[in-house]
Amino acid sequence: MALDLDAIRRAARLLEAGQLVGMPTETVYGLAADAGDPDAVAAIFTAKGRPSNHPVIVHVARDADLSQWAGGVPDEARRLIDAFWPGPLTLILKRAPQVPAAVTGGQDSVGLRCPSHPVALALLEEFRGGQGGLAAPSANRFGRVSPTTAQHVIEEFGAPGHGPLAAVLDGGQSEVGIESTIVDLSRLHTLGPVLLRPGRISAQQIAGALDRPLATPDRGAPRVSGSLEAHYAPATPVALLEPDRLANVVETLRVRGRRIVTMGYSADARPSLQMPADPDGYAHALYAGLRTLDQQGAELIIVERPPQAPEWQGVNDRLQRAAFDSAGVLERLLA
Ligand code: TXA
Ligand code: MG
Repeated sequence: MALDLDAIRRAARLLEAGQLVGMPTETVYGLAADAGDPDAVAAIFTAKGRPSNHPVIVHVARDADLSQWAGGVPDEARRLIDAFWPGPLTLILKRAPQVPAAVTGGQDSVGLRCPSHPVALALLEEFRGGQGGLAAPSANRFGRVSPTTAQHVIEEFGAPGHGPLAAVLDGGQSEVGIESTIVDLSRLHTLGPVLLRPGRISAQQIAGALDRPLATPDRGAPRVSGSLEAHYAPATPVALLEPDRLANVVETLRVRGRRIVTMGYSADARPSLQMPADPDGYAHALYAGLRTLDQQGAELIIVERPPQAPEWQGVNDRLQRAAFDSAGVLERLLA
């Protein structure tokens, strides 16, 4: 897709003026605002309905001066940046003093990411001459499924000019489809590197680039709204089911006249929505699939549980969160 440079320039001027812009990235679409402008960042929280003590990721241009944002860039961060930026990896580092509290959620750390989507990179080059940062959480209302197309962003917030958004840049369907991997390097001396959110870039890849294993989050970990147990959920309840139970359960519920839809990846499952059988393809299709199934007026979305293998960690994490609030729904329908 050719870059619409006029639209990108217009979006950069709107952002410089404190407005909100829907921005494509390779993971999911972001709701972007000038990270240096506390009022603009506050407008993100209002639009999303998100608690204001949740920090937001700052997106930076390739070769950005990270000392504007981070209090220091440890060797471990350099290694991960060299290996994975631009790309779907967010690093949590100690913050620089001038970073607005609205960005950090009042914590002593800041999340930084250089996205690889060409529209996002062009926008970051154009915005404040490549020297600024764009605060951008996923462009969905709090707790809901993240958007992977420009149309999804408009479904969440209304068309530009008819809601909180001044513009939405269309960059096609997000390639990765689930949010970035988040690695916390802000407490290296006490905890070492910590995986806060799994994504396309796996824990193994991170550990390989660092030459050391990753810790998993503890209770002292920074607040990550993506780590709330219920998150990324459609309005319709979601249940995860082992592949070998799927056919029987679906048959039973259909005989009882229950309105259910299914999402599966095995060839013989014959689900309402056939998903790719590889983890990257599945992640790419996941959120658009949940949105489609959410619009069918079903009582329950039944998802064939993917394998519990490391390369499925990002997908399994999002599916578990989507199903978290629906505990017991399947059992009630079967009772
Ligand atoms: O792929 C992504 O990361 C997408 C795209 C738009 O870049 N963004 C995204 O943003 O997923 P959001 O806000 O929906 O999730 C970012 C996560 C949040 O859970 C937030 O709490 C966490 O990053 N985060 C940001 N800054 C942090 C910090 N200083 N410490 C701990 N967590 C932080
Ligand atoms: Mg989000």
